[in-house]
Order: sequence, then C-alpha cells, then structure tokens
Amino acid sequence: MHHSVPVHNKTVKQLTKLRNKKGAGFQAHRAFQQKKADAQDPADQEGWFRSMHTVFEEIDVTFRFLNPATPQRFLDLGCCPGGFASYILSRYPKTSGVGISLPIEHGGHAFLLEDYLRPRFEIIWGDFTKYQLGPMFMDDPTLEMLPAIVGQPLPLPFSLGSIAPERFDVIIVDGHPLRGLDSNGGKRVGETSQSAEFYTMGDQIFISQLITALQAVLTSFSSLPNFSSTSSSSVNAQGPTVVMKLSKPERLITAQVMYMFDVLSASVGTWKPIHMHATRSTFYLIAMGVGRSLRYQPVFIAGPAPCGRPGSASSPLTSPSPPSQPSPREFPPILAMQAIRHYLDSLRCLWFSLKYGGSSQTPRSEASGSDIGSPVHSHLGSPRRLQPGDLNFIVSEDVIVNEYRPRLEQLSRHVWEVEKASLSGWYKTEGFS
Ligand SMILES: C[S@@+](CC[C@H](N)C(=O)[O-])C[C@H]1O[C@@H](n2cnc3c(N)ncnc32)[C@H](O)[C@@H]1O
Repeated sequence: MHHSVPVHNKTVKQLTKLRNKKGAGFQAHRAFQQKKADAQDPADQEGWFRSMHTVFEEIDVTFRFLNPATPQRFLDLGCCPGGFASYILSRYPKTSGVGISLPIEHGGHAFLLEDYLRPRFEIIWGDFTKYQLGPMFMDDPTLEMLPAIVGQPLPLPFSLGSIAPERFDVIIVDGHPLRGLDSNGGKRVGETSQSAEFYTMGDQIFISQLITALQAVLTSFSSLPNFSSTSSSSVNAQGPTVVMKLSKPERLITAQVMYMFDVLSASVGTWKPIHMHATRSTFYLIAMGVGRSLRYQPVFIAGPAPCGRPGSASSPLTSPSPPSQPSPREFPPILAMQAIRHYLDSLRCLWFSLKYGGSSQTPRSEASGSDIGSPVHSHLGSPRRLQPGDLNFIVSEDVIVNEYRPRLEQLSRHVWEVEKASLSGWYKTEGFS
C-alpha cells in the first residue's frame, strides 16, 4: 500500500472513489492496457511505439525545452520501443541521443526506431537492476558498471577528470518493470503482474534510474567550461531538462521526488498524457534547468551520506524551505551541485538497502567479495521494497504535509483532473454509472 500525503480537494476525493470502483469491467480494461503496454506482439508494439511518439509530442508542444537551432543531446532511459526518440529525432534534426533499455532476450521490448533516424541514436542494451549504483566501497562481482557514456557512478573526487563524461540537454526517465518477467531479468513467466517481486523490481528500477539521471545532470553541468556562471545564453548552460515518469503525485515518495526537482530546477511542470494511459495514475514530471541554481537555502550535513545498516539508508537532513514560499534569492549552481551530490550519496545508500536490505539473509561470500570497513557488508539480505521514510533525506513528510502541500496541489491539479475525467468517461462509455 502506498503511503499518501493527505490531500483534501474535491478532485482527489472523486478520483479516489473512481479508482476504488473495482468493477470486473474496469479490471478487464486495465489488464488489456497492461497487456498492450508489455506486449511482445509486433503489431501491438508498433501501435505502442506510435503512441509513445505522440505522448512526447504532447510534452514538447506544452513545454518546448528543445531548441531547433542548436545540436542537442538526449539520454533516454528505458528507451524501447523508441517512440520518444523517434519524435525528438524527427522533429529536431540537430539532436542526437543515446538510450539504455532491457535486452530483448531478457524480456525487453524491441527497438523500432525508423532506419533513417538510427545514425543519430545509439542504443545500449542494459538492465537497470544489474548496474553497480551503490556506494563506492561495495563490490558485488555480479554487477556491471554503468556505461561510461552516461557518466561514472563514483562519487567525487573520482567521477571527474580522467573520464570525459557526456553532456546531455535532455534526460528522459521512462523505464518501468515489465509484467511477467522473473527476477533474473529472464523470460516471461506468465501474467504475474501483481507479485511482490514485480513491485520490488519496480522500486529498484525507479531508484537506479533516478541515480543515473542525477549522475548525468551532474556530469552534464560539471563539464561546462564555466558552470558557475548563470549568464550564458546556451541551453546547456541553463542545465538539462529531466522528463521523468512518476505515479500518483499524492504518494509520499512521488511528492518527495517532485520536491527535490522543484528545489533544484529553474522551473518544473507536470504532464498527464491524454493520448494514452489517461485512465492510469502515471504522469510525467518535466524539470527544466536542473542544477542551474538552488532556489531555496538548504542546510546539508557536510560530507557523504552515512550508509547505515540496511533499512536505515536515510540520512537526516535539514530541509530547504519549500518552494511554495517565495524565495528571497537564488543560490548559485555550485550549491545546486553540492545538493545533487548529497542526494546522490544518499540515493546510493538507499539503492544498497533496497538491493540487500530485505529480511532473508544471504551468506556474504555469495553476494559480495568485500567488507572493507562498513557494517553493511556483514548483513547482506534479499531485495526489499521502498518504504515511507526512505526519501526523508530529501525532505520530511512533515514538511511535505505542512508546507509543500499547496505547491504539490498546484503542480498536480492537471494530473488528477485528466485521470478523473478519463476514468469517469470510461465508466460512462462502458455503461457503468
Ligand atoms: C514505458 S516503456 C518506455 C517507452 C519509451 N520511452 C518509448 O519512447 O518508446 C519502458 C521501457 O523500460 C524498459 N525496461 C524495463 N525494465 C528494464 C530494466 N530493468 N532495465 C532497462 N530497461 C528496462 C522496457 O523494456 C521498456 O522498453
């Protein structure tokens, strides 16, 4: 069960009723949608590819963060079948991109990008649950390094210098777990969509992508010649745009991620696709100018986030004042970089806890070759799910509920309204009142 922020507006009340109206007809509709989205059938995949193309068009028409006049790079996490890439590359002929997606032999979707666009797009086949995104000292030989093109996942001072990282103008986070895959990223094992394993995998993919995206923001920004200057007119110097798929703005974990981008970005907005999945609770957060400046004064604990024992990954952090309050001034990008590093350190600890912090214990020798100076290595367990409180290093629930809520509602109104209208429309069309 998701832990939600209490939101008392009429739309959310009506939406909750509609969501809870669990008629057999609606379940069948959901199952059909999920089957389509996770489809392996070529005709379904082609249709889905077209729909994704249109979804990105909706986002682009609304936010216009790409610049047709300059060459721009995008990073596309969970990129298959490639509808987003297809839209960007065809609409913006100067763009080029790189994407990561689950290999087809591990159950991932096929890559359907049009042939004429392929020279401007590189696809890396990889599994987000198999990358080493944890703290630097951990050493699990079963994991791979994140592709160097995305930036190195090691904390400073190792991340910069020897390896020239890529710079991205747009970073897309759209990977989600596919139903019916077994935990080894293996073949389809039937429609086990509601299994605990599915949700645990989803949480791991979510946090892994967040780490990868923030790492890419950091390297994109840090590799600029004068990244502490805010006066440059180039789009890159404004900081990249992150487009991230999230679910249910009122969910605490979602609200905390929205808050983090709100604090770090020049501006944020949300988009609920109208063309597809309108009856579902997923939406996109569009954060523009991420890392350009820090809008509210944070009080971070100096030094890296302490990785505690599994289950206690969060480090205490005094929260910035919430973005709902007018800020007297903006802080320079150098502080935003510090903030991103702090979030990354904490997210790496959380990643570790999600991967090994579950209850069932694995003998250390099977899971890790190292136990250098950290208590976490002596208690390797099974994967666990995200819990309320895991993202408290970003902001506490208290601040979200008591201070950020008006801003959260402002950002989310459109998302709730589209979902509500689509759900009630669906019930009417299908003859359920
Ligand atoms: C919603 S789709 C993305 C659609 C894409 N944005 C487009 O424009 O076509 C989610 C993608 O995440 C990928 N995915 C699922 N699990 C993954 C994993 N563990 N690692 C990498 N990619 C994964 C799936 O193969 C699928 O292609």
